[in-house]
Amino acid sequence: MDDESGSGGTGRFDGRVALVTGAGSGIGAAVARRLAAQGAEIFAGDIDGAAVEAVTKELPGAHPLTVDVTDSTEVDRAFDQAVRMGGRLDVVVHAAGVDDPTAKEWIAEALLADRPPEVTGRLGDDSWRRVLRVNLDGTFHVLRAALRVMVPARSGAVVTIGSSSAFDTLAGYPHYAASKAGAHALSQAVAKEAIAFGVRVNTVAPGPTETGMAARTPVALRQGFVDRRVRPYATPEEIADIALFLASEEAANLVGAVLLANGGRFTV
Ligand SMILES: NC(=O)c1ccc[n+]([C@@H]2O[C@H](COP(=O)([O-])OP(=O)(O)OC[C@H]3O[C@@H](n4cnc5c(N)ncnc54)[C@H](O)[C@@H]3O)[C@@H](O)[C@H]2O)c1
Repeated sequence: MDDESGSGGTGRFDGRVALVTGAGSGIGAAVARRLAAQGAEIFAGDIDGAAVEAVTKELPGAHPLTVDVTDSTEVDRAFDQAVRMGGRLDVVVHAAGVDDPTAKEWIAEALLADRPPEVTGRLGDDSWRRVLRVNLDGTFHVLRAALRVMVPARSGAVVTIGSSSAFDTLAGYPHYAASKAGAHALSQAVAKEAIAFGVRVNTVAPGPTETGMAARTPVALRQGFVDRRVRPYATPEEIADIALFLASEEAANLVGAVLLANGGRFTV
């Protein structure tokens, strides 16, 4: 599929209520558009209220929510609002996440100077905590809130967005790799617990994808990702399609999967 809506008019999510985090940009925005095009009522959350407002404006019946996933009270409030207004919650796609532009800059400088990157020794506690807080704590807050709604209902599907960089770790980017490896293991552990109650949890682990996050990657580092033997940067829609598959009934037997979607860069 290469059109923006990608619906194909299937209505795969007709009558379903979905909450998407990180919906103000990139993969989360593409997921919100795809889910809306396929019939779901969307609750689109992001820390950037203006961005998520702009995304939902184009989507009939979509509701913007300003939510910081590092704050569990805000996450719980967003879920309460979605359930109160939507009457149910069938799908959660958790795409909120952050990179570290400063560490990327240091890696790029090293590449240009033809020397190995030295990041870990220079990494402040605040940089470490910021990435872990959003990418790992945030995933916990969202998974917990989702299970609190879905377990009593005995149904639901949750998709978290991990990263292929948890497997093929980038030198000089340890906090991001650790946050995503943690998010994968967390999602898998929760998946094994939740399936007993009819709730499926799965993860997409994208490789390089053309989003706001990629736009913050310095040119030298981007060039390092160029490999003509494999697919180029994925589009956010290509990753969204995989997330929608995991959220759909077509993936009924997929539980605790971490689907590597990196266009053939490496396998695990
Ligand atoms: N782009 C890539 O190459 C790539 C590769 C692998 C994994 N990922 C992962 O995909 C996910 C989506 O990233 P993207 O590439 O679309 O980036 P993006 O920057 O375009 O979008 C991320 C969104 O998350 C939101 N966000 C950030 N912190 C938040 C918070 N505390 N609470 C709520 N929302 C918050 C941002 O405002 C933004 O709208 C992330 O988890 C990212 O780590 C991206």
